[in-house]
Amino acid sequence: MILIDGKKVAAEMKQEIAEEVIKLKASGGRTPHLAAVLVGHDGGSETYVAYKIKDCGAVGFKSSLIRFEDNVAEVELLAKIEELNEDETLDGFIVQLPLPKHISEQKVIEAINPRKDVDGFHPVNVGRMVIGLPAYVSATPFGIVELLKRYKIETNGKNCVIVGRSNIVGRPLSILMSQKAVNTTVTVAHSRTENLGQVCRNADILIAAIGVPGYINGNMVKEGAVVIDVGTTRVKSDQTKSGFKLIGDVLFDEVAEKCSHITPVPGGVGPMTRVSLLLNTLLSAKGEIYK
Ligand code: GUN
Repeated sequence: MILIDGKKVAAEMKQEIAEEVIKLKASGGRTPHLAAVLVGHDGGSETYVAYKIKDCGAVGFKSSLIRFEDNVAEVELLAKIEELNEDETLDGFIVQLPLPKHISEQKVIEAINPRKDVDGFHPVNVGRMVIGLPAYVSATPFGIVELLKRYKIETNGKNCVIVGRSNIVGRPLSILMSQKAVNTTVTVAHSRTENLGQVCRNADILIAAIGVPGYINGNMVKEGAVVIDVGTTRVKSDQTKSGFKLIGDVLFDEVAEKCSHITPVPGGVGPMTRVSLLLNTLLSAKGEIYK
């Protein structure tokens, strides 16, 4: 069994991005600049945004953090988005989700100029990705495809089963995995799928993105399959400095005995998601998506 080391691959990619930034600046370009908008004080969101800001520093990007309290009015948030859309010093920005219930996430996503939507959540980017046009692709799906590529995992003609159909992971990943560069035959399974175990056992590549800790057990995995665990449920723990630990969607020990490759949690998909946002920001700074 091969452990897919997302942390190592992401570190290599960060090094590549840092080198590109140096080249970009040497040829007269400006420093890539990412902004993050954080509403409220949700523990998970605070952590993820802090990582995004730290990652920018590590590769030589400029970053800005814009904070609002969780009682911010939707119009105020939308006005800030308008301002960020117009800000010519910014290559891209993200609004960390989830947002408080009184704010429409869809309205917020659609208010972002697709040219600056480095999360790849705007329908224009999703639509462009679906028909194979240059687009910002959401970070987790992009990171997973890159991880498979860098581990030289054979995908041509293979059966890929994705459990989960979210707009951020399962749905866009199903499109990427069926594109010509990847060529898998994709099944999207979800909470209403009948005989889920049987469907999963048909997978050469099984991707768990349900958000339910330990949902995929050893009986659901074919001998020799490649297993990608997207789950990152935060649970309280007295064994870590932060007071939390991350639990994947896959029961690691029993699945690891059967599969050929598996991603750990943490240290698998998570670091790839983080680096993909940097890559999208770099693509924006270089003008490579929207010419
Ligand atoms: N919340 C969970 N994942 C993400 C992400 O990739 N981007 C944003 N903006 N919010 C998130």
